[in-house]
Amino acid sequence: MSVPSPTGAVLISLAILLLLFGLLIWHSHLLHAKKCQKAAVKFFSDEPTVRRILSGTGLDDDNINMRPPLKSRAIPNARLIDTFGIDNAFTTSAEKHKTKFKTQTTLLLNRQKGDFGWDRLRDEARKLVQDDLNEHTVPLVPLVQTVTLRLTFAVLFNVDPQTITHEKASFIGHEINRLWLASKASGSAPKWAKQRKFHDTLLSILPNHNPLDRTQNPLNLILPAYETLWRVILRCFIEVVYLCTDTDSCIWRKELQCFFDNPTTYEPDELSALVIAKEALRLYPPTRRVYRNFLISPSPTTPRKGELIAADIEAYHRDPSIWGSEPKTFRPSRWSTVNMPNDRLLAFGAKPFLCPAYNDFGVKMIALLTAALAEGVGKDWALEGKKGVLPEPGQGPMEGGRTAYEDCILRKRKSCC
Ligand code: HEM
Repeated sequence: MSVPSPTGAVLISLAILLLLFGLLIWHSHLLHAKKCQKAAVKFFSDEPTVRRILSGTGLDDDNINMRPPLKSRAIPNARLIDTFGIDNAFTTSAEKHKTKFKTQTTLLLNRQKGDFGWDRLRDEARKLVQDDLNEHTVPLVPLVQTVTLRLTFAVLFNVDPQTITHEKASFIGHEINRLWLASKASGSAPKWAKQRKFHDTLLSILPNHNPLDRTQNPLNLILPAYETLWRVILRCFIEVVYLCTDTDSCIWRKELQCFFDNPTTYEPDELSALVIAKEALRLYPPTRRVYRNFLISPSPTTPRKGELIAADIEAYHRDPSIWGSEPKTFRPSRWSTVNMPNDRLLAFGAKPFLCPAYNDFGVKMIALLTAALAEGVGKDWALEGKKGVLPEPGQGPMEGGRTAYEDCILRKRKSCC
């Protein structure tokens, strides 16, 4: 073996140093590119532009998107493919696949009107809440998540929700949250193939749906349903039961109870349980921002470039020129004063990507689960959070982030007799 000469050794050391230096520069470029990508998102909250973005066609007549709308949506959602192993309407660029998926989902959600009707869902929700309120203190977020998740399995896969244990549902809810947050953070996204315990838990509930096969993965359906529902139900429940005046709480709880007692034949009036759910969707739209990647050509001679654009639904829903005074306050009565409020609510997106839960299912599910929770806690449970976490009554709005209120607990009040 030959030993390098002193000059050779110096040259090798220099080469290694240069290589390390190059790597350092390359890495800092990568970090910079990532930061720029994040900083480059453009947000819009005025109604015409928000609608244009949702449709995937551009910003206005001068800024037209040259990419097919479906592809413009699939690009920002691509991280979900690696992280959750899914292939659904949100991730595909194939028009046929998206239409088929949407049609199937619409049929599943419409089943509520038939076999797995609202009365049966009500009974299941009531049982789940009662069973979970079995200690003196109960963490609120897992309660809302597990009840929502088990009912979502029931609706979409006809599974008996009572057969899914609290532990299993809690694990799935926790993992979805963890992976979602990790997929958004900088650095490499978690890989679905490695989430073995998650696969096994899903298989124990749905043995015929292979989570490693993208076409069969139950998360294709579970994610869009559960992820939107639990966050708005949590906030609707806290607003109705804990953050408002006693008078408002009494009126709203009565309406919700009325709907809960008879969800199939319920006749909504002006301040109905459904309006309460819609006000929650207005103030706390679960999809706070809808992202598209547009190819916009500023002029015929300039080259086009991809841009990440966000329709800021939350900001649009808090615009006083549309929603009236104190738009950050939860006030269902505003729905009788706003001009065509149902058409202006964009929590379910807009055509051609309008959510299949738009017609009936989404709003009813929020009302049903908020009512189940309100009935379950009655007047017997107090809500506790670390100091400053929960807004003072009337001092909303609540925080919109997915980890907010994680530490809040329900505590059973001491009985006076
Ligand atoms: C309160 C409940 C819900 C809210 C707020 C909501 C919100 C939304 C929004 C904002 C979009 C449009 C996304 C975009 O334009 O990129 C959407 C689309 C969609 N949602 Fe929902 N969603 C809810 C419940 C559900 C449920 C229960 C399901 C059932 C699986 C579901 C399945 C879908 C599907 C398949 C689409 C894609 C529609 C298309 O591409 O044409 N959603 N949803």
